Amino acid sequence: MPPDMRIVKTGAILAMGLFCIQSPSFGTESLAAMGVTGAPREEIQIRRAWALERLLANLSVEGTAPGAVVASPSKRDPNYFYHWVRDSGLVMSALIAEMDDVRWSASLRTRIETEVRDWLAFEARLQETPNRSGGLGEPRFLVDGRADHSDWGRPQNDGPALRALAAIRFAWREIALGRRLEVERRLYRAELPARTLIKKDLEFVAHHWRESSVDLWEEVTGDHFFTRMVQRRALLLGAELATALDDPEAAVSYRLEASKIARALEDHLDPARGVLLPTLRQVRANQLVQSRVEKTSGLDVAVVLGVLHGEVPAQSGGFTVQSRAVRRSAELLEADFLRLYPLNAGSSLLPREEMLAPAIGRYPEDVYDGTGSSQGHPWFLATNAYAEWHCRRGEGELGIRYLLRTIHHQGLAGEMSEQYLRTTGFQQGARDLTWSYASFLTATRACLE
Ligand code: NOJ
Ligand code: NOJ
Repeated sequence: MPPDMRIVKTGAILAMGLFCIQSPSFGTESLAAMGVTGAPREEIQIRRAWALERLLANLSVEGTAPGAVVASPSKRDPNYFYHWVRDSGLVMSALIAEMDDVRWSASLRTRIETEVRDWLAFEARLQETPNRSGGLGEPRFLVDGRADHSDWGRPQNDGPALRALAAIRFAWREIALGRRLEVERRLYRAELPARTLIKKDLEFVAHHWRESSVDLWEEVTGDHFFTRMVQRRALLLGAELATALDDPEAAVSYRLEASKIARALEDHLDPARGVLLPTLRQVRANQLVQSRVEKTSGLDVAVVLGVLHGEVPAQSGGFTVQSRAVRRSAELLEADFLRLYPLNAGSSLLPREEMLAPAIGRYPEDVYDGTGSSQGHPWFLATNAYAEWHCRRGEGELGIRYLLRTIHHQGLAGEMSEQYLRTTGFQQGARDLTWSYASFLTATRACLE
């Protein structure tokens, strides 16, 4: 944020009679103290509440079906007023993690639970909605649940896996509360053809993971590290649920397919550079991407997102937040963003700025500016991914510095769009991106633990 805006921000906060969020002691505090106690921790707690509130504001909004998750309330430039299966799966996983946290008021927890149940019912409907992907890989739907007939990069096969992961988490919670019959009725029942939400997604993943699909950025068709990581995790966690719900044969087949995915994931390792390649067998770029970028760096924050959402800690083997190749990928990617984004050159005028970790974007060659193509910028969800990744690696002090980077570019009430400008840090692209809030919730949860 440029200094002029900072003054506006601080002034507004004081005028509103709030405590001083940008506490002057902030910049001089030692990082060691920061991670544990003091202003940053309290500030982060407050901003978590804002993020949760703003995330909830994007669920079941006026003019949409109950359970629909708009990617952003923005209806033009860009129009993100759609229900994306990927975004909503990630958003719901983050929300389910908050659902039983007694630090939230009882009414807030009830509200979260209602939203999660509505979302599950909405997704069950979408699974049955004929669409141009001809299966469960359809990336997005209209907010009233109808199919989207527009030209789009499809299928995107991370969606069913991410939806299953959120639903599985919810199913275990329900089982623990003695609602097993209800889970068997609506979420997972041992029968084929599958008629329940989780079982349908797991069958789809088990049978279709070998097929190439469009990546999470909706730009290239191929075999993607991110997609495979979340597919493998869905099958492994699905196998545990299948075992608990008397479906042992399914558990065996899900585990078997997961082990094959694990072997396919090894192919992403580039031995020469020690990095994980985000995409293999890239067959074509999405026709819709206006300027076809050659992705030559082999670096993408999708690799970090892949371990955040796809690691299976109890499992031996497989890539995790601790993997050396993930670290190598993350370091090289960050080095590129240091070079590419003037924002990362830093200004030493403000003491707090020295504490900020670099702003992180999607990948170096990115030209998507949030509405069209010019040049890519840092993304909140990418910066938050670095925060979460470091914190989950046990590097909390470093992780918090990425959170401070995010906070530095948030609006007065914690607003987060999709991107922030590589030059000035002003917000850019779809406003109030639901996924930005979800990523802030999971990152701060990991960092405050
Ligand atoms: C663009 C992102 O690249 C994609 O991952 C996301 O699903 C959509 N926007 C909607 O937020
Ligand atoms: C919209 C997609 O969601 C985004 O990820 C992509 O970069 C642009 N389209 C490309 O045009």
